[in-house]
Amino acid sequence: MFTYRDLEALQAKSLKMQGAIRNQTFSPESRKVLRRFSSWEVGELILKVNQSTLRGRLAADPTLPQGLVEDDGRQRWYSLDEINELRRRIKVNRQSLLPPRPQNKRAIRAAIANFKGGAGKSTVALHFAHAAALDGYRVLCVDFDPQATLSHSMGLSDVAEEYTVWGIMARDLIMETERMNSVARGAESGTALPQRKLPASITGMGLENLRMTDFIKPTNWPTIDILPSCANAAFVEFASAQYRHLNPEWSFFAAVSRYLDQLAPDLYDFIIFDCPPAIGYQSMNAVFAADVLYIPSGPGYWEYDSTTSFIGQLSEALEDLDRFSGNVPAGTMNLPKAFVDLRFLLTRFETSNELHGAMQQAFVKVFGDRVAEHPIELTRAVEQSGRFLSSIYEIDYRDMTRETWRRARASFDRAYDEFKTNMVAAWDQLEDKA
Ligand SMILES: Nc1ncnc2c1ncn2[C@@H]1O[C@H](COP(=O)(O)OP(=O)(O)OP(=O)(O)O)[C@@H](O)[C@H]1O
Ligand SMILES: [Mg+2]
Repeated sequence: MFTYRDLEALQAKSLKMQGAIRNQTFSPESRKVLRRFSSWEVGELILKVNQSTLRGRLAADPTLPQGLVEDDGRQRWYSLDEINELRRRIKVNRQSLLPPRPQNKRAIRAAIANFKGGAGKSTVALHFAHAAALDGYRVLCVDFDPQATLSHSMGLSDVAEEYTVWGIMARDLIMETERMNSVARGAESGTALPQRKLPASITGMGLENLRMTDFIKPTNWPTIDILPSCANAAFVEFASAQYRHLNPEWSFFAAVSRYLDQLAPDLYDFIIFDCPPAIGYQSMNAVFAADVLYIPSGPGYWEYDSTTSFIGQLSEALEDLDRFSGNVPAGTMNLPKAFVDLRFLLTRFETSNELHGAMQQAFVKVFGDRVAEHPIELTRAVEQSGRFLSSIYEIDYRDMTRETWRRARASFDRAYDEFKTNMVAAWDQLEDKA
């Protein structure tokens, strides 16, 4: 017979192994460190500037970052900070190399969501975040998934529970309940309205005293931060149900959106959400906070099936929210929830596989131009990089067959370019910041 104690013992063994793998994978200090990028990558793949033009500029202005020479001495290798400095200081044909960002808008938010497990959500979130950072954007990732795949991939492994989406939700409950109580106290109705009381287990954590930025952690990329998850955050679903019961008027699904609304509008450009493979309190917070919904799906029939049922259940959950009649701060919420853009993105796609081609046609037939034009191809580079918890952008091309690396990178680049185009178009439609 097996009880939770046996499961606990098995997990303890597994955690030990996990720690050992991390130590081998990351640097000797078991910290994930971002590599440098070669002048070939900087010119051709990152800044997209002719190599000789770039060399000319660097030679003409010795105050520009000059990178470091590694091994064979032929290439110079640049840190992302140096690349971003080049991007700020160099103009080509009087054109800035900075990526487009509409004036007067807050960061734009995309949720990568599907309740199908293994659809490629975390892989897509990780690669889009890295591609956007290499493109010059400042990125915030929010890990809504208690599996914490994205947090681990971004080098965060020891996260305290209160610094996760759960902390934000509990903090929001405390603050919203206090707001409702003070409105009730101030009411001039003569009869005192009831005051809601939260248990000390929630109010005693001091969450309301945390600063907004206490929840945000740096990653191994200088221009990517993360609001991480941790493996213990699985209880959030149970806790949230209890919280709703404590204050049924609390708009539980808007907690993260309220939190993000309070961040300085120009602190980040893209905010990317990795969602759990389930519809629940966390994923509802993710979709409610999102401007753009990206739905990755594998190219098989069963995946098509479950993507279909995902959109059905999401639709029902959003319709349910539309009936929400609780207490929200004036002028802060529009229902029904409307996304500025919505796309299906095929992942683990094999061009030579007839079944995949047929499924792609089926997707397009049904969902039309909601299907992203460029699927993400199945690649050994990512299978391999998954094992090492790294994106294709992080892997040094000298560590694998150059052709495999290039093909994988090209596939993610195409999908990212399309994502960026969609994001920038959606960005223009956001309201101007106050
Ligand atoms: N383009 C790809 N090529 C090869 N392998 C891939 C690709 N995309 C994802 N994978 C692999 O498929 C598996 C599942 O991917 P991933 O973790 O991104 O899915 P997920 O939707 O986030 O899963 P979960 O629902 O558990 O959160 C991983 O092992 C990953 O390395
Ligand atoms: Mg995942």
